[in-house]
Amino acid sequence: MPTLQHGPLHPEELNYAQALVTEVGWNQTERDWRMFLELGRVQAVRTDTGNVVATAATLPYVGFGWISMVLVTAAWRRRGLASNLLGDAVDRLRGAGLVPILDATPAGREVYRGLGFADTWGFARYARPALSTTHDLASGRGGIDVRLITDAIWHEICAYDAATFGSERNRLLAHLRGRMPPATLVALRGDRLVGFLLGREGRIATQLGPLVAEEVAAAHALLTQAFATITGPIFIDLADSKAETRRFIEAQGFAFTRPLTRMVYARGSAFDDGVRTFAVVGPEFG
Ligand SMILES: CC(C)(COP(=O)(O)OP(=O)(O)OC[C@H]1O[C@@H](n2cnc3c(N)ncnc32)[C@H](O)[C@@H]1OP(=O)(O)O)[C@@H](O)C(=O)NCCC(=O)NCCS
Repeated sequence: MPTLQHGPLHPEELNYAQALVTEVGWNQTERDWRMFLELGRVQAVRTDTGNVVATAATLPYVGFGWISMVLVTAAWRRRGLASNLLGDAVDRLRGAGLVPILDATPAGREVYRGLGFADTWGFARYARPALSTTHDLASGRGGIDVRLITDAIWHEICAYDAATFGSERNRLLAHLRGRMPPATLVALRGDRLVGFLLGREGRIATQLGPLVAEEVAAAHALLTQAFATITGPIFIDLADSKAETRRFIEAQGFAFTRPLTRMVYARGSAFDDGVRTFAVVGPEFG
């Protein structure tokens, strides 16, 4: 039985981390891991031959912090590695005065419940396969003007997002802004900001999110614009409360793939605004 060593993931080990993502069929890329290394921390468990067999990331925000990328390779499961990494991540965040939060898959939820995390609200991943051509759905936007995000409105978007998410996350948003230009959109009603959308390329599909909006019409106008330019497969992590938007995306060819639960440590309520939050960035980022 090889001995295991715990420590921070090094940039030269990203290929191992990415192999764990591929093993479980997740969507992250090495670029996502680099965002964790830059904005947060990744803890790794490696064998004495240097093979990374498990990971967990922490991402600090203001007042709370995210735990994600909890991955254990199949051969090393049910030996307490996830529990150990989770305990370490919780201690790290609490030590920094932050409330730990995570978005759990059904498998992860079993582990986290036993460690003091409570459910707050749910969302689900919806997937649309690649299209041979995009549809022009540009008609009927209910007075909403959708534009590409410019520098002039960027600070307003960051502030709007912070008021919704419960913390500023300007550096994360800045990373996302560069990753999927056709899905870097703002919705205006007159000159009032009523929503925005960002997205990023993934290992399997383009992930759209965050989708934050004042009203359903703005959310749908933003999605309509993004759908008109993206032919490849798309994932959206849509809040369970947004039934009208669920029907809207299902009519565009999206299908439910899996449920996720936002869980907060030792607290039954979320920090984010459940009215404006249509789609999250993703379970790994919040
Ligand atoms: C979920 C996952 C991280 C668990 O890793 P692990 O190292 O096997 O977990 P642990 O050994 O610490 O398990 C602790 C406890 O959680 C529960 N648990 C773990 N996996 C479980 C499963 N598949 N079904 C039900 N309970 C489970 C058990 O109570 C377990 O204790 P026990 O082994 O003494 O019965 C791992 O299966 C994995 O990488 N899955 C794919 C990725 C994923 O879903 N990650 C979670 C994202 S939120």
